[in-house]
Amino acid sequence: MERSLTLELVRVTEGAALASARWMGRGKKEEADDAATKAMRAVFDTVPMDGTVVIGEGEMDEAPMLYIGEKLGQGTGCPQVDVAVDPLEGTNIVAKGMWNALTVLAVADKGNLLHAPDMYMEKIAVGPKAAGKVDIDAPVIDNLRAVAKANGKDVSDLVAVIMDRERHAKLIHEVREAGARIKLISDGDVAGAINSAFEHTGVDILFGIGGAPEGVIAAVALKCLGGDFQGRLVPQNEQETERCKKMGMSDPRQILRLEDLVKGDDAIFAATGVTDGELLKGVRYAGTTATTHSVVMRARTGTIRFIEGQHRLDIKPHFVMKD
Ligand code: FBP
Repeated sequence: MERSLTLELVRVTEGAALASARWMGRGKKEEADDAATKAMRAVFDTVPMDGTVVIGEGEMDEAPMLYIGEKLGQGTGCPQVDVAVDPLEGTNIVAKGMWNALTVLAVADKGNLLHAPDMYMEKIAVGPKAAGKVDIDAPVIDNLRAVAKANGKDVSDLVAVIMDRERHAKLIHEVREAGARIKLISDGDVAGAINSAFEHTGVDILFGIGGAPEGVIAAVALKCLGGDFQGRLVPQNEQETERCKKMGMSDPRQILRLEDLVKGDDAIFAATGVTDGELLKGVRYAGTTATTHSVVMRARTGTIRFIEGQHRLDIKPHFVMKD
């Protein structure tokens, strides 16, 4: 992949964030998502790549744009890449004006991203110090002890991010029994996973079941960051099990490690904050200007860039919400 693609891709997540953050706190998650999707799609057209959506807004007949199989970018002659997008990760978060909504995307050389079906995935994510020390099959307490040792802390110092869902009752109980602290989140486990790789966020580990597409996107980030991510699909019915088999997974419950989720040595991850979070601030508007905070990273070089963008909305009126 071209090195310059990294910076081009931040423009895409910035555009989506500028469009969707206008919907913050308005109680309208579909509108927020729609704004992000349209803006993301529009900016992608300007990026010098020959991309194909492998993780997107749904199948061709379900989504008007950013659907699986859709071609993105300037096309012929440009590098051929797989694209995974979540134009708005945390639609409810934006609707309620809460924490950690992001616009996110991941790109890898063609054929290198797992085409994860839209189903649940069990996940565990940790930062670089604890990479290689956790095991999705190990008891919760063993993983917490391993992370504590790797991060130079006591188990009681640790913070685990877990989605606040009934399905996690046992997990939450076990983490509390082990003595670690928990940050329960209403949505947005991509941010939870990435935060585990940045000490200043105060997050040490993400556990639990969330969306599989979000799992692949988070895995790309953790790969760039030198962290660790393991996943396992959780088919809810026979249809979903069949879908896994059609993807060539003889055992739908196999552990998906970083190299299964994103192959090869190169991949790019970009995210822009829509609402405030531990890692990225949300969009700030002031009249005809807006400020965005983004992170973009590349696996091959391990370079991580935080980018503050100042945007002139009078010159880019397509990012201004139309009621
Ligand atoms: P949105 O699709 O509304 O943005 O929600 C995202 C999310 O919270 C992910 O972060 C998470 O992986 C998934 O939904 C969890 O799904 P569920 O709400 O069914 O538990």
